[in-house]
Amino acid sequence: ELQVVLLSGGAGTRLWPLSREAYPKQFLPLAGEATMLQDTWLRVRELSGMPPLVVANEEHRFLAAEQLRQVGVEGAEILLEPTGRNTAPAIAAAALQAMAAGKDPLLLVLPSDHVVRDVGAFRGAVREAIPAAEGGALITFGIVAAAPETGFGYIQAAAGEGVRAVRRFVEKPDAATAQGYVAGGDYYWNSGMFLFRASRYLEELERFDPDMVQAVRRAFDGAARDGDFIRLEREAFAASPADSIDYAVMEKTDRAMVLPVDIGWNDVGSWSALWQVSEQDGDGNAHHGDVISVDTRNSYAYARRLVALVGVDDLVVVETDDAVLVARKDRVQQVKEVVARLKSDE
Ligand code: GDD
Ligand code: MG
Repeated sequence: ELQVVLLSGGAGTRLWPLSREAYPKQFLPLAGEATMLQDTWLRVRELSGMPPLVVANEEHRFLAAEQLRQVGVEGAEILLEPTGRNTAPAIAAAALQAMAAGKDPLLLVLPSDHVVRDVGAFRGAVREAIPAAEGGALITFGIVAAAPETGFGYIQAAAGEGVRAVRRFVEKPDAATAQGYVAGGDYYWNSGMFLFRASRYLEELERFDPDMVQAVRRAFDGAARDGDFIRLEREAFAASPADSIDYAVMEKTDRAMVLPVDIGWNDVGSWSALWQVSEQDGDGNAHHGDVISVDTRNSYAYARRLVALVGVDDLVVVETDDAVLVARKDRVQQVKEVVARLKSDE
């Protein structure tokens, strides 16, 4: 049995001003008609005979529930976090829920805010990885490391074909280290998607962070059910250490394996990444909404009202009801500085 787990608790601050705390990027139709959460489910639903298990922030419960209903999901259970403690506790709660009925399914853990262009290849990869996951491995899906990005985990793979052992997993190395990994050729980016048996994940987490497992277990045992919502008990969950699966488990476990994949993956971590995955015209411009561009190249514009670009290159313009962003396309990582400034002014 394969249980899909959709991680939907992130804030997506680098896509400001579109992505907001109250309405982060996984709930937006950034890369097509459907929202990113919906696309994530539609991509994998044929692999699983069960509705997905969603882990989201309390604040987003109606968004998550309504968006899944729109794509025909009946009876998705939605685990609600009173406060975000990052992905390791979120996945632990999902594992407990998946095992609640006395079962121990494989969990296919998916961020709900990524683009995968080659869906067939992706499903093929998940199927290929299932036997190793059933055998007890924690499977990661590796992406050829094209550039020394510092926002990713890096996976050094053992030699071989298909699913193979992980020699080393390094979460978010500094730029110089990443440079070395990319030059070396045997490192992949961690896509952030995982496949493992629920009990195996909890066992590994218990080895490396028993306090986290204990806190999440308490929060789960004290959870209140409210229709399809499962509200984790506030105080117990808040007492959990905050950590990502990458640091808490993947860097430390000796049971990790990696399947390198070529699936048109992009984590849409910035406006330039969104430009990259969007359909572009002959001048390399990607538009969303009502945009006219004249003598403009390699630019991205998102418009609610009419936006016109004249004689500019490599620009990002995002216009929403209450904010406008104008940025050089090679500086969009600094959008998070805007968000930080806004927060400190609050
Ligand atoms: N439910 C829940 N609760 N979900 C969360 C939480 C949380 O507290 N924090 C993050 N998420 C969700 C995000 O919405 C996203 O879908 C996913 O979990 C990953 O979190 P990110 O915050 O986006 O992680 P990252 O991008 O810094 O790094 C991860 O992804 C990279 C690939 O995009 C790591 O796994 C890296 O190793 C990986 O390379
Ligand atoms: Mg991310």
